[in-house]
Amino acid sequence: MIDQAQYLRRYMEEYKKKKESNVQKDIRVISVASGKGGVGKTNFSVNLAIALKEMGNSVMVFDADLGLANVDVIAGVVPKYNLYDVIFNNKRIEDIVLDGPKGIKLIPGGSGIESLSNLDEDQITSLSSEFGKFKDIDILIVDIGAGLSKNVMGFMAVSDEVIILTTPEPTSITDAYGLIKVALKYVPEGRFHLVVNRALDKKEAKIASTKICDTVTQFLSKEINYLGYVIDDVSVKKAVMQQTPFKVLYPKCSASICIDNIASEITGLKKQNGNGRNITTFFNKVAYLFSRL
Ligand SMILES: Nc1ncnc2c1ncn2[C@@H]1O[C@H](COP(=O)(O)OP(=O)(O)OP(=O)(O)O)[C@@H](O)[C@H]1O
Ligand SMILES: [Mg+2]
Repeated sequence: MIDQAQYLRRYMEEYKKKKESNVQKDIRVISVASGKGGVGKTNFSVNLAIALKEMGNSVMVFDADLGLANVDVIAGVVPKYNLYDVIFNNKRIEDIVLDGPKGIKLIPGGSGIESLSNLDEDQITSLSSEFGKFKDIDILIVDIGAGLSKNVMGFMAVSDEVIILTTPEPTSITDAYGLIKVALKYVPEGRFHLVVNRALDKKEAKIASTKICDTVTQFLSKEINYLGYVIDDVSVKKAVMQQTPFKVLYPKCSASICIDNIASEITGLKKQNGNGRNITTFFNKVAYLFSRL
């Protein structure tokens, strides 16, 4: 684990030094992770993508959760192929990308995520150029799943920002802290945000976020940015049952309003970002990094 952490840091330093020239748009890569499973990452990712799209951004969601990939279920689309087919079955990226609700795009990772660690140079080059076809994406939201696996760490390392999702429950808080602690070994320079999902109200969310942010500052000497909260709202479950994002079905429900607030917060932070990367360089980075983890 430590060797991998050292490798990851060295890799990121070398990568930063490399000058990148390209004609594609800069993208902002935001990954969504949690310590504990089932806290609402996939719902959050898809609905946040819709909110950001409504604000005028071109948004894509990449389902990189190897465990329980289910962006498609939440978004109500049916993938025929996934990233694996692009890598091994000569499918083009156009064959796997799905048009999601409200104009967002979805990429199902599926078993292709696991394969990212076994790619040869040619496969890396062709995968990166396939992703280069998405020239106009402004924001890529990556649902990277729960836990501390090396895939999770890898995606955190290549993202501009990581949103850690937790609920106010003590087990979720403890696991969120555990995730941040391990992640900081791999990505000490990472930019971490916190979102409290399923909060009863603003106050409960604030108490939970303060516990995590203060503990991280005290014991890990790192600042975590509290981005906001999403109310525990029965509309979320109702929307899941209908396989339609709550932002679409209930645009004015409490959870939707919370998501809109978080989207505004994220957009407001945009200026601090500016690493001049595009979608090809992002996937290049993913593929190279994973092939060495
Ligand atoms: N804000 C919310 N209010 C009420 N229920 C919610 C909320 N967010 C999530 N849920 C419930 O939690 C369930 C799990 O959500 P989701 O599938 O998004 O979690 P996940 O973190 O992606 O899970 P996994 O770790 O398995 O990928 C949803 O089906 C829904 O019933
Ligand atoms: Mg999920």
